[in-house]
Amino acid sequence: MTPVVARTRAELRAALADAGRVAFVPTMGALHDGHARLMRHARPLGDTLVVSIFVNPTQFGPGEDLEAYPRTLDADLRVCAREGVDVVFAPDVAEVYPGGTDGAVTVDPGPLGRVLEGAARPTHFRGVLTVVATLFALVRPDVAVFGEKDFQQLALIRRMVRDLALDVDVVGHPIVREAGGLALSSRNTYLSADEHAEALALSRALAAGADQGVVGRDAVLKAARDVLDAAPGVDVDYLVVTDPFLGDVDDRFEGEARILVAARVGTTRLLDNQPVVLRKGP
Ligand code: PAF
Repeated sequence: MTPVVARTRAELRAALADAGRVAFVPTMGALHDGHARLMRHARPLGDTLVVSIFVNPTQFGPGEDLEAYPRTLDADLRVCAREGVDVVFAPDVAEVYPGGTDGAVTVDPGPLGRVLEGAARPTHFRGVLTVVATLFALVRPDVAVFGEKDFQQLALIRRMVRDLALDVDVVGHPIVREAGGLALSSRNTYLSADEHAEALALSRALAAGADQGVVGRDAVLKAARDVLDAAPGVDVDYLVVTDPFLGDVDDRFEGEARILVAARVGTTRLLDNQPVVLRKGP
């Protein structure tokens, strides 16, 4: 079935007039199999499935890839049709930010927005939370599905929903990987064939780290670091182990944790993460 494409707030309201329970997958387009899996997960969670396709300028910093970011609306609509999406909201910038982006009211991500990705990209999460809050206000979803690849983004969206008492159930979906292990991302299209091969070190490092979980945090970090150090084309920005809410853990920590890595391969910044259970045997 072809989805209804809403370009404006008014078209969106009309398309959602009798929507019943709304499930929502926000995206920036350039849809790949990871997005398709989010849609498949979201489909049975609502009567109406809405996907937004909007390259949000406020989450890109100066010198980042806003202009180069892939825009593939026709192909994206085919993915949405295949996955049984009812409504695609594909607004332009003025429709989302009618007062412009300069001097606008924004959502402050708090301290969690300033670490890890936020340390490298200081305005990023303000832009993400502002657009997600705006999209929630426009789409009014009952449930929204986000990928775990952007794990800090997911954690911050959960915090925003809790702290601002937004009435949306936020569901995380595990990372979807290529056969070689690379986490699917719209930015993978920037990688040359050689860079793509080098990028496989990220998921290999996480797997090597997770294998050491029973020994403890330091062993996890060492095993992952050894793999990354042996990959010359991978320039690591951070490699950390945190609790599931991105809090610090020490080497005595026991239980569910997360290993997160960010690295540059060529000019492309890649993220990956993996759950790990620390110090608890099988
Ligand atoms: O994860 C993304 O694609 C974007 O950050 C999101 C959540 C659609 C906001 O622009």
